[in-house]
Amino acid sequence: MPKLTVNGKEVEVPAGTNLIEAARAAGVEVPHYCYHPSLSIAGQCRLCMVDIEKTPRPTIACNTTAADGMVVNTETDRVRETRKSIMEFHLINHPLDCPVCDQAGECWLQIYYMKHGLYDPRMKDEKVHKPKAVPLGPHVILDAERCILCSRCVRFCDEITHTGELGIFERGSSRASTPRSTSGGSATPGATGSASRTRPTGCSLPRTRRAAPAPT
Ligand code: SF4
Ligand code: FES
Repeated sequence: MPKLTVNGKEVEVPAGTNLIEAARAAGVEVPHYCYHPSLSIAGQCRLCMVDIEKTPRPTIACNTTAADGMVVNTETDRVRETRKSIMEFHLINHPLDCPVCDQAGECWLQIYYMKHGLYDPRMKDEKVHKPKAVPLGPHVILDAERCILCSRCVRFCDEITHTGELGIFERGSSRASTPRSTSGGSATPGATGSASRTRPTGCSLPRTRRAAPAPT
């Protein structure tokens, strides 16, 4: 069992544990979007940067295995700066529709922006617009503008239900998670419903929740 130090706290974790989980065991939260303990590692969002002693630059924690004697720091200046830049990158084309988004208040973009972003936006151009209401089967609607390409929903359908109805298509700023079938109607209701529960933002919501009146 490797023993390592996270933010000055020594912790012992089972062999094979990644640095997000090792930090968690030391009581330290490493912000992340694409990592989910039940899914394979995608390393896509780049938000989980940490500093490892004797390494030249911040490293993603989700795809780094804890090793004996490792010294990890999640709060160095360059990690904070990197996180802030990554938040800015994630939000370049994200619509600022929090006042009408049904995920507002429990959206990880909002939560991490307040904790780790708080930058002055430099984006002056019009944001890229994408389809706002794509059916993912009979129960779930995808708002492609709110997709941050974490691929959790895609991996859920590939690895948990093995139904594979979602994929990430197109290139550059046009990329988004979308159904493999163009109608979206053939998506397995249970699979896409469960996949949408892994969402970090208001990207894919149950039809009954979308634009529902806020609780009073
Ligand atoms: S639709 Fe949501 S869960 Fe799926 S890749 Fe995009 S942000 Fe991630
Ligand atoms: S959680 Fe590590 S790259 Fe997304």
